[in-house]
Amino acid sequence: MVKDKKIEICFLTKKDVKGFLALLNNVWPTQYPFQKQWPHTSMPDPKKFKQHLLLKEGSFVAAHVGIYPQDLKVNGSILKFGNIGGVATHEKARGKGYMSVLLKRAVELLHERRYEISWLGGDRKRYGYFGWECGGRVSKFITAPRYFPECKHRAIKKYSGESRYLKQLIKLHSAEEFGQKRRLALDKLLYGRRKRDTWLALEKDKVLAYLTLGTKQSDEQARVLECGGSLEELKPLIRHAFDKLGFKRLEAVTPSFPNRYKDFFNGFSWGDKSDDFYGDGCVKIINLSQTLKRFLKQMNMKAKSSVLCGRHSVTLVMEGTGQSATIEAAGKRVRVTAKPAKIKMVLNEHEMVKLLFPLSKPSEWMKLPVGAEFLDILFPLDFFFWPLETV
Ligand SMILES: CC(C)(COP(=O)(O)OP(=O)(O)OC[C@H]1O[C@@H](n2cnc3c(N)ncnc32)[C@H](O)[C@@H]1OP(=O)(O)O)[C@@H](O)C(=O)NCCC(=O)NCCS
Repeated sequence: MVKDKKIEICFLTKKDVKGFLALLNNVWPTQYPFQKQWPHTSMPDPKKFKQHLLLKEGSFVAAHVGIYPQDLKVNGSILKFGNIGGVATHEKARGKGYMSVLLKRAVELLHERRYEISWLGGDRKRYGYFGWECGGRVSKFITAPRYFPECKHRAIKKYSGESRYLKQLIKLHSAEEFGQKRRLALDKLLYGRRKRDTWLALEKDKVLAYLTLGTKQSDEQARVLECGGSLEELKPLIRHAFDKLGFKRLEAVTPSFPNRYKDFFNGFSWGDKSDDFYGDGCVKIINLSQTLKRFLKQMNMKAKSSVLCGRHSVTLVMEGTGQSATIEAAGKRVRVTAKPAKIKMVLNEHEMVKLLFPLSKPSEWMKLPVGAEFLDILFPLDFFFWPLETV
């Protein structure tokens, strides 16, 4: 490294594309160029240059933090995530505070760009300094060939960019009630990722189901990164992964809330119980009130099927941020308002994530004040990114 070079924090521009890609490939050397495996986070596209924060020493791109907008479907609402990925400092430039400086700027941008919440997959301690905390539970299942003894025969084909199949993949995916709301260009990138193959169960040219697989850690186990279509037709695809691709186990994560994929994988995995866990997911709340409002339908669904009655209200105050929001329940109807309630819970950023997005009811993780016990009915709030689309 040449000393006394000017340090500059800037967005990616055309002249730094080469240095940006060199950095990512230095930090994550992979079988294929990084941008082929992670095209949705790193394929340089001038329209997305402002998603990439760089720290440069002169003309040398020394560090990067990506800020990726991801609109997530939550019970009919769209929750605006500004997710963080591609956090990288060149091995020759580590330990100088570059990542920290970029993350601080990224947090400012999350507010300036009016995201409601932020998610990232990463180390709790590292990102904890900047306000992220473990949150957002998912269920994990491991399935094996013994659960799929007999399957109907289906024509199975690897997707390789055919537009007639892409259209059908998009149709199947967009019918899901959860996951990211995506545009065609993004779908094209995601289903075209290297080392993440999408397999199609076909009847003539009709896609009946699909399964996107990624390998992790060992050649014996693959991860289900996404699937869709008919669950019955998913079975021959899974059998294909065992018989033809040689995997001995498949890991699948599904949303923790009741859904057809959770039932499906639960029925075909060892043990009769899923393990709810965070994966390596960490959450930072950017706008408390807006985030809660996006989950109103979910909270009302929970209230409706519970024993909740009477009137309850609590004001949540996020310490040091000037943000607060009141949750009111009247009978089984829940509202989010700005009207201060008698009961106040003042929590720091980390505690607020633990209250809203724990693995199970909040009272198992913290002491709820008298009168705020009704929050056990409404929380945890659940959301789900498919592993294929995470950044
Ligand atoms: C992780 C990585 C980006 C750190 O870059 P860096 O520029 O050396 O980081 P900094 O100099 O800003 O910070 C140095 C350390 O101080 C820590 N730190 C930051 N703020 C701190 C604080 N307030 N108090 C104490 N420690 C702090 C950081 O967490 C980091 O330690 P860690 O790497 O164990 O997390 C770099 O090591 C890297 O590129 N690693 C490989 C890729 C990777 O793992 N990326 C993250 C994917 S989730």
